[in-house]
Amino acid sequence: MEKLVIHGGNRLSGEVEISGAKNAAVAIIPATLLCQDVCRIENIPNISDVSCMIKILNNMGASIRMINKHAIEIDTRGVNSYIVPYEMAKKLRASYYLIGALLGRFKRAKVALPGGCNFGVRPIDLHIKGFELLGATATVENAMINAYADTLIGSAVYMDKVSVGATINIMLAAVKARGLTIIENAAKEPHIVDLANFLNAMGADVRGAGTDVIKIHGVKELHGCTYSIIPDQIEAGTYMLAAAVTGGDVLIKNVIPKHLESISAKLIECGVMITEYDESIRVESNGKFKHINVKTMPHPGFPTDMQPQISVLLSIANGTSIVSEGVWDNRFRYADQLIRMGANVQVDGTIAVFQGVSELTGAPVRADDLRAGAAMIIAGLCARGTTEIEDIDYIDRGYENYVEKFRELGADIYRKNFADDEENKNHAAG
Ligand code: EPZ
Repeated sequence: MEKLVIHGGNRLSGEVEISGAKNAAVAIIPATLLCQDVCRIENIPNISDVSCMIKILNNMGASIRMINKHAIEIDTRGVNSYIVPYEMAKKLRASYYLIGALLGRFKRAKVALPGGCNFGVRPIDLHIKGFELLGATATVENAMINAYADTLIGSAVYMDKVSVGATINIMLAAVKARGLTIIENAAKEPHIVDLANFLNAMGADVRGAGTDVIKIHGVKELHGCTYSIIPDQIEAGTYMLAAAVTGGDVLIKNVIPKHLESISAKLIECGVMITEYDESIRVESNGKFKHINVKTMPHPGFPTDMQPQISVLLSIANGTSIVSEGVWDNRFRYADQLIRMGANVQVDGTIAVFQGVSELTGAPVRADDLRAGAAMIIAGLCARGTTEIEDIDYIDRGYENYVEKFRELGADIYRKNFADDEENKNHAAG
């Protein structure tokens, strides 16, 4: 098994190119099932969540051609199954988008409950409520979600909680339902807007995405299209934090600065210099930070998927900072790993209090989940000494080519084969 080795202390400088958005790609790929045609999708990120989703569609009869590293053609005319077995679904959280897409195509779906990062309970009650309001029955048996509808009929759906996944799943089931669907209290993340734009490119009629009311007029048929995925807001934010904590000067290219506003605002608040251009953003830092408070919220609030990353900066900020997690009920598990690196943090449920320390020190740590893993990289980059990170397949799920991208910026980071280590140790012992 591989792990990452980072020798900390290098200032990051230079330019980095952001890839396509993971959370848009894993919604758009299943959405291609809604037409019996060919879709060409560009700016696809090269990450394991995307390859898992592509494998699932292949398994269901779609034929997928890699045009190049970042573009695929999906021909869904051969899709002949509405079943997604556990072996395929367990690999990624977003596998549950296949329920909405298969309902929209076949009015039937049988999908194993998803896997994905574990930071507290991840219910799907809002998804099921939406499907039922559209006229489907949806039950959970043997860890499979069984959904079925004679006819899907447009309906008013009020979301008790803002949910990205449920908003996406209801959109997928509603675009070919009969009549008007109105989603109230909808999620407004950039990837919701990207999915709506993709569906409209296929001939759907989705209006209001990006606001808290999305209106969908059902259409009979959808057709193939060509579409380019937006840049990844969270990948960009991760490189912004890495540049900041190392006292670096980095130009982050291929971004939509508007999507990064809440991240830029918090970095400016703690003393980092941010310069916005049309499609790039520059981060300059002297490595000294004022303490600040952060509350994660649904978009346009500070993204929960940036919470572990900014917590690394607050671990070395001057003074006491408070982070309040407003989306998930248990997203501070990585704090134990930061404490191993010398951070002074107290966690109580969804609140974490950071007493800034002068520096972090390298240590063997693990990635508890995708964004916690990204935070461990950021911590290793600014720590004195060597950090080794295990369970890095979490990070491979959501960050394309990150070792090369960080090395390009001057980081001393590389992958190491863990098995070799174990073997050498056994030989030495023998
Ligand atoms: C998506 O997860 C993202 N994943 C997550 O990013 C992200 O943290 C989250 O949205 C919030 O932005 C993907 O897009 C693949 P939610 P999702 O439904 O859809 C509760 C990453 O790092 N809820 O918006 O699962 C839920 O418990 C990943 O890329 C219900 O109560 O999140 C949570 O408290 C990690 N019932 C809140 O809503 C439901 O039926 C928000 O969850 C659904 C959700």
